[in-house]
Amino acid sequence: MKKTLLIIVLATILAGCQSLEVNSPDKSLSVRFEQTQNGGIAYSVQRDGKDVITTSRLGFITDVAALDKGFKLIGRSRHSESSSWETVWGEERVITDKHNALTLCLKHETGIQMNIEFRVFDDGFAFRYIFPDQTSDTVHHTLYTINDELTEYRFVQDAEAWSIPWRTEYYEGLWTKRSITNHQSQTTNDTLCSPITIEFADGTYAFVHEAALTDYPAQNFYAGDGALRTYLTPWINNQSQITNDQSPKAYISTPFSTPWRMVILTKTLPDLVASRIMLNLNEPCKIEDTNWIHPTKFMGIWWGMHIKTMTWEQGPHHGATTTNMERYMRFAKKHNIGAVLAEGWNLGWEDWKHFDFTTPYNDWDMPYLSHLADSLGVQIVGHNETGGNAADYEKDLDSIYRYHAANGIHLIKTGYVAPIIRTVDGLQWNKGQSGVRHYRKVIETAAKYHIAIDNHEPVMPTGLQRTYPNLMTQEGVRGQEWNAWSADGGSPCEHVTVLPYTRILAGPVDYTPGVFHFENPVIPTTRVHSTIMNQLGLFVCFYSPLQMACDLPEHYMEHADAFRFIEDVPCDWERSLLVDGKIGDYCVFARQGRGSDNWYIGGITDENSREVTIPLSMLPKDQTYQLTLYRDGEQADWQTNPYDYVIEEQTVTSSDTLHIRMASGGGFAASLHLRP
Ligand code: NOJ
Repeated sequence: MKKTLLIIVLATILAGCQSLEVNSPDKSLSVRFEQTQNGGIAYSVQRDGKDVITTSRLGFITDVAALDKGFKLIGRSRHSESSSWETVWGEERVITDKHNALTLCLKHETGIQMNIEFRVFDDGFAFRYIFPDQTSDTVHHTLYTINDELTEYRFVQDAEAWSIPWRTEYYEGLWTKRSITNHQSQTTNDTLCSPITIEFADGTYAFVHEAALTDYPAQNFYAGDGALRTYLTPWINNQSQITNDQSPKAYISTPFSTPWRMVILTKTLPDLVASRIMLNLNEPCKIEDTNWIHPTKFMGIWWGMHIKTMTWEQGPHHGATTTNMERYMRFAKKHNIGAVLAEGWNLGWEDWKHFDFTTPYNDWDMPYLSHLADSLGVQIVGHNETGGNAADYEKDLDSIYRYHAANGIHLIKTGYVAPIIRTVDGLQWNKGQSGVRHYRKVIETAAKYHIAIDNHEPVMPTGLQRTYPNLMTQEGVRGQEWNAWSADGGSPCEHVTVLPYTRILAGPVDYTPGVFHFENPVIPTTRVHSTIMNQLGLFVCFYSPLQMACDLPEHYMEHADAFRFIEDVPCDWERSLLVDGKIGDYCVFARQGRGSDNWYIGGITDENSREVTIPLSMLPKDQTYQLTLYRDGEQADWQTNPYDYVIEEQTVTSSDTLHIRMASGGGFAASLHLRP
């Protein structure tokens, strides 16, 4: 009898302990929910039995109560997932979702209910706060003002974090590495944008970001003492004092779930890049028929405006004329480019304030061009620059998209050039809750008209393209255009070697690769810090299902043999892998074309030339491939000779290894076509 009692007591204690932990399917990672004596809530994370993240605070400060202590655990449930799903487009056709989940039901001393759902994958973890419907509860609180979210990440090890400051306009900054152990954010101005990529002292990696950002402000972080602490983008309530960071952060109405707080944790860089946790945390596709959504390369009446040889507004150098567009479209048709963007086709570019999205300038013949697009099979990419006036744009969304769809335009690039946009709630940070709502409305409305979006000046991507695959690509990066006009003379070579491990892990990027002509007659102080081969490498290293070849047709014809790679390379993939790389130094990616046996490999390096070794073991065995290699020539150097390149052909199999030298600011591209 005594013995039975002991067993029951032990079993209960063990069950109690276990129930607060959840392990990854391979058991290497485990997340532990912790409670302090006063009902405070926290979590910690262990890998292979050792702490990676020590006790880190959870909770909120709301207008109703401080939800950081005074909680009782009143229930828990577990769930395990092992499934796979097919992407509409992407870096991978099939994505596996394998995780274990633990949901804790908490009741606050005020009666407020809050659940926390943890999901643990083999390569990371995530959690979200869920406020269930509590109308029937004694508290009757259905509306909350979130004054602060308290989520922390207390890393055990020294960490070098790649990040950009949160006030970086449109996320268009240079990423820098700083220690979050030694750095201490003093003010909100000194906080960092999500995402953050971390290199730990033991050579492992983390990517800290959020997934499925919905009706909530984007997350930023205070850094200090090895920890990251959440700083949500504030509302701007006092319109005359827009820098007031004490403002509320979010207004929520129950039932409500926050975005996922996600940390990818891997021992290698290829595993970090291969993680698909963020997509798995987003809801499945909500668009029933996705047959109209097609990845494509596009060119554009665009670079001319940035190098200032053309203008958006009408005048002697107006870019978006019928004649010019027809020239671009015929060129695109000839060179296997599926679409052409035209900026400056519509009224409003004189003051950038009052754009009309349904009236073309009189030198743009919409019926003619729309008919031409149809007959050539080359799509027009429409352009809706709002000048930051999101409210006016939102008001007319239906009629704007109806107009575009009626003219056969099913791809639109949107733009919001203004540090703070005007939403239906007045002047707001674009990544505040109000801005997040606006961008979602655009995507949902566009879907109704079968329109896919390339969103410039966006809120940082968080994987929503799984749910709305018409959200195809976004900017949110210091892109190529900075190399045309930036006061600092163009982005340093290192910049492009940071992005695949930072910004691009958050989602597809409209960086606009493919400059082939480096002398800028109008702004000679600025240039692209790369060789032509580096530009080709970007088409494989930077993922975007709408991939722009950004230069002028005449510049491509100066190097027609190198342009063949752009004609050939797809932008939708069956499989993708990082072959080799180091953050801020170089990267080599290999990707298999979707629905094809062909592979493409691309590499880029910073200002240091280097040789990379690439075993072709990704190719299927017993097959022969025709390799076309586009590489830097012996004299190539981004500063002195960006145009020196060599194109070589050879046959290869999976047992071959390539040794390729990249010049300073250089790179390479390779197409591998299966031989019949
Ligand atoms: C900024 C965008 O990033 C760029 O691509 C566009 O040309 C201009 N805004 C004008 O809309």
